[in-house]
Amino acid sequence: MKQKIVITGANGLLGQKLVKLFLQNGVDFIATSKGANRNENCPSERFVPLDVTNEQEVNEVLMEVRPTAIIHTAAMTNVDQCESDRDGCDRLNVDAVEFLWNTAKKMNCHFQLLSTDFIFDGEKGNYSEEDPANPVSYYGVSKLKAEQILIDDSSSDNWSIVRTILVYGTGSNLSRSNLVLWAMATLPQGGEMNIVNDQFRALTWADDLAQGCWLIVLKGQKGIFHISGKDTMSVFDWVKRIARHFDWADTNVHPISSLGLNQPAKRPPKTGFSIQKAQNLLGYTPESFEKTLDLLKEELS
Ligand SMILES: NC(=O)c1ccc[n+]([C@@H]2O[C@H](COP(=O)([O-])OP(=O)(O)OC[C@H]3O[C@@H](n4cnc5c(N)ncnc54)[C@H](OP(=O)(O)O)[C@@H]3O)[C@@H](O)[C@H]2O)c1
Repeated sequence: MKQKIVITGANGLLGQKLVKLFLQNGVDFIATSKGANRNENCPSERFVPLDVTNEQEVNEVLMEVRPTAIIHTAAMTNVDQCESDRDGCDRLNVDAVEFLWNTAKKMNCHFQLLSTDFIFDGEKGNYSEEDPANPVSYYGVSKLKAEQILIDDSSSDNWSIVRTILVYGTGSNLSRSNLVLWAMATLPQGGEMNIVNDQFRALTWADDLAQGCWLIVLKGQKGIFHISGKDTMSVFDWVKRIARHFDWADTNVHPISSLGLNQPAKRPPKTGFSIQKAQNLLGYTPESFEKTLDLLKEELS
């Protein structure tokens, strides 16, 4: 089947990597995001503005484009903002999913939702797709509510959920940074970094994530997939690993406890995924962390 993909949140990190992947592979797509196209690498004829919280706009754009699949990356991704603005978080992370899913069903179009390790409480770690959810933050609650819209709908199974963890990489005019970008900007200058040593995560190279999302659509897969990098370690150890790889001093990288941060939203202490299902069913093969650091350095220079 010839695919035509709609990307939501295409100005974001994952959205930009999907644009790059589709351009490289000659995949037909329309990139959408709230406001104007900020991705210098996305041709203007491929971009349509779309605020996913506007039900009428969602209907109009999707009915016009008639995609075979929607990859829904747009979200309120700031965990502390979700905690303090629960209504806004529900509108973007839950209601918009309802709008997109309802229209997708009418068009017999596959719907892919991006979700998160934050649906888990972080007590167990190395989570598989079958592990029970128990979010400790409102961001996690909102993403779980969105997942339930699809899981509980007995009228169609034409959906997939991609859960991921701490995504890193760079792009054009991104509205937020990420751990690895921050470390790569700070460590060469010998800048101070206070990093939690009681939160354990896998990191996910944004290009790998885009590949995983696309493989699900390409292979006609459905259901839940965990897509992340392979290794899980404390966030502090990740930063030390970056310093070690580039031979940068890490004397100004200080371990701190999550409690000291006083953040509005609670974080799950230990996540990390089993990615076996993605490896077996999709042939998903994430790059080694050190290789992605070299690629990122090249992109940044
Ligand atoms: N990044 C991570 O570490 C991580 C971890 C787990 C799960 N996830 C999930 O993965 C997905 C992609 O993450 P990401 O890192 O690519 O996020 P991101 O960089 O924050 O991108 C999200 C994009 O959505 C756009 N957006 C915001 N409100 C919108 C609206 N009403 N309508 C349309 N677009 C809107 C944002 O626009 P502006 O740029 O203009 O604000 C942004 O470009 C998200 O669903 C996130 O929850 C991410």
